[in-house]
Amino acid sequence: ATNSIYMVTMSAPTNIAVIKYWGKADTHYNTPINSSLSVTLDQTELRAITTIAVSKQFTKDRFWLNGVEEDELLHSPRFRACIEGVQKLAQDHYDAQGNLIYSKEDWKHLHLHISSYNTFPTAAGLASSAAGYAALVAALCQLYHAVETFPGEFSTIARQGSGSACRSMYGGIVAWRQGTPKQEWRDSKAEPVLEDWPQLRALLLVVSDSKKDTSSTTGMQTSVQTSMLLQYRAQHIVPARLQAMEQACHARDFGTFAQLTMQDSNQFHATCLDTYPPIFYMNDISRQIVRIVTVYNSWAGELRAAYTFDAGPNAVIYCLEQHQQHLAALLCHYFPIPKGALSGLDTSSMALEESL
Ligand code: PMV
Repeated sequence: ATNSIYMVTMSAPTNIAVIKYWGKADTHYNTPINSSLSVTLDQTELRAITTIAVSKQFTKDRFWLNGVEEDELLHSPRFRACIEGVQKLAQDHYDAQGNLIYSKEDWKHLHLHISSYNTFPTAAGLASSAAGYAALVAALCQLYHAVETFPGEFSTIARQGSGSACRSMYGGIVAWRQGTPKQEWRDSKAEPVLEDWPQLRALLLVVSDSKKDTSSTTGMQTSVQTSMLLQYRAQHIVPARLQAMEQACHARDFGTFAQLTMQDSNQFHATCLDTYPPIFYMNDISRQIVRIVTVYNSWAGELRAAYTFDAGPNAVIYCLEQHQQHLAALLCHYFPIPKGALSGLDTSSMALEESL
């Protein structure tokens, strides 16, 4: 019917890299100078939820992020690349009775109303863009009944929204293979490495939930232009480290996983300092967290916790289930949180206010 509205809702979780992506090889296709590896936090509430409505009565595309209309983002090349990328893979849509509702041709003329919510702070270095673009692409795929022409194609579309988003298209431990320029970088895509590591836990320490100063796109651009350390890292360090990390994941070797995770986070922030003008994502509280984790590991006589920081001061700490409570208690001791703040919350999500 002409008045009907057709709607789909999809959600995608965030992912936190343990081998970081930093630096673009091709800004048009949004491809990286090195492969990366991350853990998709699919057992948490940290998600982006996207609803898309389509109707013959809509006269233009519209987009709301956390309830606020965002026209500029909607018309940005990265956002359009996602819509157009999935639209190319659209199929005819039939109702339950087998009547054609929307043909492939119809989709090209129909306008979309898109609404997306994050269940966590946007742009605070908690990979909100990863979840956001993954949820957008997942919802578009559902809406258009899209079919991949090769495995991982949907992730290549999410990649054009935000690089890290391609990894949120899969659960578990996921690699993003950097790919090659041939055939428009179609091999720069995400690939599941390990479906599940059931004992692995992530503690999220929200040091600050304000927006970050330097966006990842701007930061990467200056780093690529000015940091020789970054070039060296991408060419000579990441390939072997990634291989060692994949082996550690397959063997469920937490000690090696932890060591590589912390070293890679440190190196990413070292390349930020090596960038000119330098970029500072970690702050004093972030560095205190590094110290606490280091002391905890040396007290334990083994690596039981691994910190990692993205483009912001917030920490993610990986550990195994058996140490989660002890570690959380230790962190709460050093960073007292207001009474009642944790009531009803899982201990795996903790707020550390900068003012405390
Ligand atoms: O995908 P982007 O453009 O938000 O960049 C992500 C960069 C890091 O989070 C710092 C590292 C990563 O691999 O996720």
